[in-house]
Amino acid sequence: MTVKINENYLLLKSSYIFAEIAHRVDKYQKEHPDADVIRMGIGDVTRPLPKAVVKEFKNAVDEMGQADTFRGYGPEQGYDFLIEEIIKNDYTPRGIKLDNDEVFISDGAKCDTGNIQEIFGLDNVIAITDPVYPVYVETNIMAGRGGPMGEDGKYQGLVYLPCTEENDLVPALPEEDVDLIYLCFPNNPTGTALTKEQLAKWVNYAKENDAIILFDAAYEAYIREDNIPHSIYEIEGAKEVAIEFRSFSKNAGFTGTRCACTVVPKELMGYDGEGNPQALNPLWNRRQTTKFNGVSYPIQAAAKAVYSPEGQKEIKESIDYYMKNAEIIRESLTNIGLKIYGGVNSPYIWVKTPNGMDSWEFFDTLLDKAHVVGTPGVGFGPSGEGYFRLTAFNTLENTKEAMNRISKLSF
Ligand code: MLT
Repeated sequence: MTVKINENYLLLKSSYIFAEIAHRVDKYQKEHPDADVIRMGIGDVTRPLPKAVVKEFKNAVDEMGQADTFRGYGPEQGYDFLIEEIIKNDYTPRGIKLDNDEVFISDGAKCDTGNIQEIFGLDNVIAITDPVYPVYVETNIMAGRGGPMGEDGKYQGLVYLPCTEENDLVPALPEEDVDLIYLCFPNNPTGTALTKEQLAKWVNYAKENDAIILFDAAYEAYIREDNIPHSIYEIEGAKEVAIEFRSFSKNAGFTGTRCACTVVPKELMGYDGEGNPQALNPLWNRRQTTKFNGVSYPIQAAAKAVYSPEGQKEIKESIDYYMKNAEIIRESLTNIGLKIYGGVNSPYIWVKTPNGMDSWEFFDTLLDKAHVVGTPGVGFGPSGEGYFRLTAFNTLENTKEAMNRISKLSF
């Protein structure tokens, strides 16, 4: 008995929330083979890849089969042809100037938001909004930053910023001294967004307190209202205090194809043990070149096609489609008297469970009585207790059917 494990893993809940849900739903489906279960739990898309994307994907696969166009290892940071499209389309029109070597292509925002903590010291204090995308929390626990979980369901070493009915799901600035702050807006799971003024408060806080914001913008394509920033770099000075994560999963249907990017501005600094500033961009570059061999060429070629006129038209159609679902969910649940948030600038609808039911009780009720699967809010953190998340990513038909079934229930 000499091999020691990383005991931090023992501090985690026994399974990842979406794995736990899948397990429970599979069990239910086995016991009720005739139940037509509608899944609105995990935020996975249902619309196919845009045709323009598939065309370039196939062309690139053909290139890989020809000696004169075959490519082996690509740059770990991604091909310039994709990086340039990202900068040109997502950043330049918003007045944000980025160099190619500030953008790192990867296989997902989940991986990048999980891996980024590796370039920071273990003694940094981490702040997370609560409820939160579990990856931010659990990757820090694995690394040894969170300590054990208290009886309140909070890891004792983390700073929780509650988003509740009382503050209209807008987190307050931390009272404690924190170093790294994870923000995701439009938010997963609550579906709420921050205005420019609200986000500017966080950027100013980070500047004044020498903190760094890890900003997950995976859902920016769903923003409908003006005055909601699509990138944190729309806020003046944010390049000195923020890393941004983007994804092709939710805007272009890449959940199963895998492509994303992370922006690490060159002016962003951390400090070594002697208090000397050290740029984070070369550290992330070092991490990626050592541990990652890049996203495959056909996938990057496919992602580039997202920015073609046809690609843009098709992704807009898909986003509009999901947002129509969001509207249907919002309307149906409001009509039966449920209190809901989100679904305006986001594909997620955050539902307050009726009659003080807890999140898992509501999960079981919907699964059993309506055969509809959602995500129990408590799976995203203690402040999610008493809430439930539904996604707008199913088909229009299934969304309507799910809402019909839920509307017939009496709570
Ligand atoms: C979710 O349901 O929260 C999403 O699937 C998150 C993700 O993209 O990993």
